[in-house]
Amino acid sequence: MKKRKVAMQLSWLILCWWTCGLALLILSAREHQVEGARSHGTFYELVVVKEYDNKRGFEAKVVVSSESGNHSLGQDISPLSFIVRIEKSTQLQVYISDAAKPRWEVPQSMLPRPTIDSKLPSPTETPLLAVTYTTKPFGFAVTRISTGDVLFNSTPPASGDLEPLFNPLVFKDQYIELSTQLPKSTTLFGLGESTRPDGLKLKKGKNYTLWTTDIAALFADIDLYGAWPFYIEVRDAGVSHGVLLLNSNGMEVSYGEEFLTYRVIGGVLDFYFFPGPSPLDVVDQYTQLVGRPAAQPYWAFGFHQCRWGYKNVTIVKTVVENFKKAGIPLDTMWNDIDYSDRYLDFTHDEERFPLKEWRAFVDELHANDQHYVILVDPGIGSAYNDYKTYSRGLEQDIFLKTENGEPYLGQVWPGPVVYPDFLNPNATLWWTNEVQLFHDQIPFDGMWIDMNEVSNFCTGTYCTWNGTILGGVTECYLQCTDTHTKYDDPPFKINHFGTLESLGHLTASMTAKHFDGTLEYDAHSLYGLAESIATKKALTTVRKKRPFLLSRSTFVASGAHTAHWTGDNKATYNDIAYSIVSVMNSGMAGIPMVGADICGFYDMASDDLCSRWIQTGAFHPFSRAHSSRDNAPKEFYLFKKVTASAKKALGLKYQLLPYYYTLNWEAHTKGYPMVRPLFMAFPTDPKTLDVSYQFLVGNHILVSPVFTENATSVEAYIPKGTWYNMFDFSQIVSKGEKFTLQAPWDVINVHVHEGAIIPMQESALTSAAVRKTPFTLLIPLPNSDSVSSSASGYLFLDDGEEIDMTLSAGQSTLVTFEALVDRRKNGTITSHVEHGEYAMKEGWIVDRVVILGLDSALSFFHVNQKANARVKVLQNDQKLELSGLRIPLGEDFQIDWTYE
Ligand SMILES: *[C@@H]1O[C@H](CO)[C@@H](O)[C@H](O)[C@H]1NC(C)=O
Ligand SMILES: *[C@@H]1O[C@H](CO)[C@@H](O)[C@H](O)[C@H]1NC(C)=O
Ligand SMILES: *[C@@H]1O[C@H](CO)[C@@H](O)[C@H](O)[C@H]1NC(C)=O
Ligand SMILES: *[C@@H]1O[C@H](CO)[C@@H](O)[C@H](O)[C@H]1NC(C)=O
Ligand SMILES: *[C@@H]1O[C@H](CO)[C@@H](O)[C@H](O)[C@H]1NC(C)=O
Ligand SMILES: *[C@@H]1O[C@H](CO)[C@@H](O)[C@H](O)[C@H]1NC(C)=O
Ligand SMILES: *[C@@H]1O[C@H](CO)[C@@H](O)[C@H](O)[C@H]1NC(C)=O
Repeated sequence: MKKRKVAMQLSWLILCWWTCGLALLILSAREHQVEGARSHGTFYELVVVKEYDNKRGFEAKVVVSSESGNHSLGQDISPLSFIVRIEKSTQLQVYISDAAKPRWEVPQSMLPRPTIDSKLPSPTETPLLAVTYTTKPFGFAVTRISTGDVLFNSTPPASGDLEPLFNPLVFKDQYIELSTQLPKSTTLFGLGESTRPDGLKLKKGKNYTLWTTDIAALFADIDLYGAWPFYIEVRDAGVSHGVLLLNSNGMEVSYGEEFLTYRVIGGVLDFYFFPGPSPLDVVDQYTQLVGRPAAQPYWAFGFHQCRWGYKNVTIVKTVVENFKKAGIPLDTMWNDIDYSDRYLDFTHDEERFPLKEWRAFVDELHANDQHYVILVDPGIGSAYNDYKTYSRGLEQDIFLKTENGEPYLGQVWPGPVVYPDFLNPNATLWWTNEVQLFHDQIPFDGMWIDMNEVSNFCTGTYCTWNGTILGGVTECYLQCTDTHTKYDDPPFKINHFGTLESLGHLTASMTAKHFDGTLEYDAHSLYGLAESIATKKALTTVRKKRPFLLSRSTFVASGAHTAHWTGDNKATYNDIAYSIVSVMNSGMAGIPMVGADICGFYDMASDDLCSRWIQTGAFHPFSRAHSSRDNAPKEFYLFKKVTASAKKALGLKYQLLPYYYTLNWEAHTKGYPMVRPLFMAFPTDPKTLDVSYQFLVGNHILVSPVFTENATSVEAYIPKGTWYNMFDFSQIVSKGEKFTLQAPWDVINVHVHEGAIIPMQESALTSAAVRKTPFTLLIPLPNSDSVSSSASGYLFLDDGEEIDMTLSAGQSTLVTFEALVDRRKNGTITSHVEHGEYAMKEGWIVDRVVILGLDSALSFFHVNQKANARVKVLQNDQKLELSGLRIPLGEDFQIDWTYE
């Protein structure tokens, strides 16, 4: 690589006025000369800076200073505005766009946030990040004020080593390029959604294509259903920050040796930087902007059963019965598209799903405290005159249109279809009405919105239909013209489908228009988000309960509205491994209610494989088995090993439901992923950065799954401390090292970390039945020589389907637990009701306390100062168990004990 001499000095504009004092404001922007030319050859130069009165940011003008004359990717836009804003101490925005006219941005209706020209709030806290810039060529850098560490730097490095990939800013109508320098040893996570055989960490030399695409999740490393232009970077000692590029256009992000390059084909550069410093802080700060994850109903954490191919009501009924007979928990039964008439949304096939019988089945599910979810696709069949959902949509004029103003015609399962334009507020009204009418017939509890990338079996700017109805045909049979517009084939091609396909390939045309003239070119990757927002509103209006919906296509704000699954995978051991990574990636993107199709969607699973899969999938927040009609059924009860594994794994998950539900509260109020990578809980342990195939439920429960055929053990990294096996309470004391854990086919390694207090209940066949059982507090203590140790935990409860999950006196309860133990003398457990009377109203009791890691014998104990004669004391193997306590959960209590 040719070295170039670059004479460049930074002009520092330091946004740290509170700490640095006003003296350090704007140091004048000086001009600097750069020798040599970059590949695109165009330089921008920063010319005028205007600082905001309240010192929370500035605006600058950036102009082209030297043109290359190479316009193969379009004309350079000049002048640009460069805006830096500090909305709050933990969020720094850097915005670059055309100064002369507005460009496409993610609509406020979908991701509400302060507008770029809104008044900035008065400073209350000291910002943690600062911005500096160079004038010529223009570049900017983001610095952590406390350490001076440069987190993001778009100025090309002085050494030319990184050529030709690292250019100064390029800003054209359909091509925007910006790079950042990165330290050699740093760790990046995010930039989804795709299936990642390399594991959790982003890999140098790879390109990440962000563009929502209907392609099966079994294909690795290509653009998948979602677009999450967000990454978390972890530097030395676990100090982390996050970077969001809020842009919905197609993009390619290349991770090089010491840089990251964004190539974006539209919109604006709207960066948000989040300072952390812990990885959980980053997700907290990021979800404050994109939206806190939606509260999920309690039942959603139970087990879900689905299959494409449950083609009549008798079959579904039988499956539910068989789960019960086998003694496997089942909270929710699902139907794929099979229930519908001619694949049309909001219809049913009267022969296979006779309404009366179907409704009786759903009523019976409800009577047994079970739930029912149905699939709905966005493609609205347009071939039938008697199809009212379609004709009402036409009347209300809510479909996506061609340039000529006709509804844009595509083809999906029902044959020819049109697509609702969920950006149009009237589409939500129409959708809500359709949901209402159908719900009046069949009282489903949730909706599964699939195929919303949006899928199309055809590709074309305009398609017409010859009048022949062919439902269920997946080859395009419409007559389509493809005019190769600059939108379908922009000058820069992202690696769509992994094969540089045109953007409109198997989706709505890029020239299709939304109600306000917005092009599908810009809004394409928001289709799933828009449909999720409309569906959440519809379900809330219709059911008047906390909504449950599951969306395949997602964008960064989707977690605030919907659950997600990793898509069409395959019954292989590799796919189990991918699912572990994909679930953690979704959580880090702010979509924590997530799981994978357990036992694989495609292909037949062996008894061993399916057994391993439920052992893993049970502990994901969303646990659903789903499979394709193309392979034989694989419900758990059909296989011996799987049945045993499902009962065991789901048995523990159901005992842990109060813990999961409290994590749901934590996700909803702080954004923390419910299932998270180890580095999020142990950020100062660098070894955790390499762990891709184990996960934590909250900060304290470690799952180390098996994903190799016929394995009888698993290599697991165990962070420092004492861990207890959740099934037999056996102990591991780790210095932060790898262990070989025994894992014969019926064993799943689940360990709980010292210092936690885990609220649990008794297992049952439904989550509703679990809620009626008494509570146990599990208290793992460190096995150490230190005399005193402590543990703590908390518990959030409400009725599980109140629309809002809030701290409200009559409707919820928040309890904190604390244990202080002197290993030689005594101990005490205190429970404090921080909030609300709900637990009191429900009459919940704590019946059992299990303390792990105690080796002295007990001489006496008190509950709330009184000795309680009914209490049974069991002590063995460092385990102390008090049962028969019968203490109200809704009241403060204290348990004290003394040793002999
Ligand atoms: C113009 O830029 C494009 C894209 O960077 C490049 O592929 C092409 O070679 C350039 N053309 C010339 C004449 O430099
Ligand atoms: C990534 O993208 C860059 C720029 O388009 C290209 O030069 C490079 O070959 C790509 N790398 C891979 C692994 O596809
Ligand atoms: C439901 O489908 C099964 C399997 O195809 C079939 O055996 C059964 O007769 C069907 N029942 C009804 C009522 O249609
Ligand atoms: C929505 O529907 C109302 C009533 O038909 C109509 O007045 C309004 O123009 C529609 N809005 C849009 C954006 O189409
Ligand atoms: C319409 O197209 C289908 C699929 O190509 C074909 O089978 C059918 O014969 C055509 N019908 C007419 C009326 O042309
Ligand atoms: C796993 O065990 C099964 C049954 O014993 C056997 O058929 C299969 O070949 C084994 N697979 C491997 C990879 O050892
Ligand atoms: C243990 O006993 C000591 C007195 O010997 C007392 O100060 C301490 O508070 C007790 N601790 C607990 C946890 O009960």
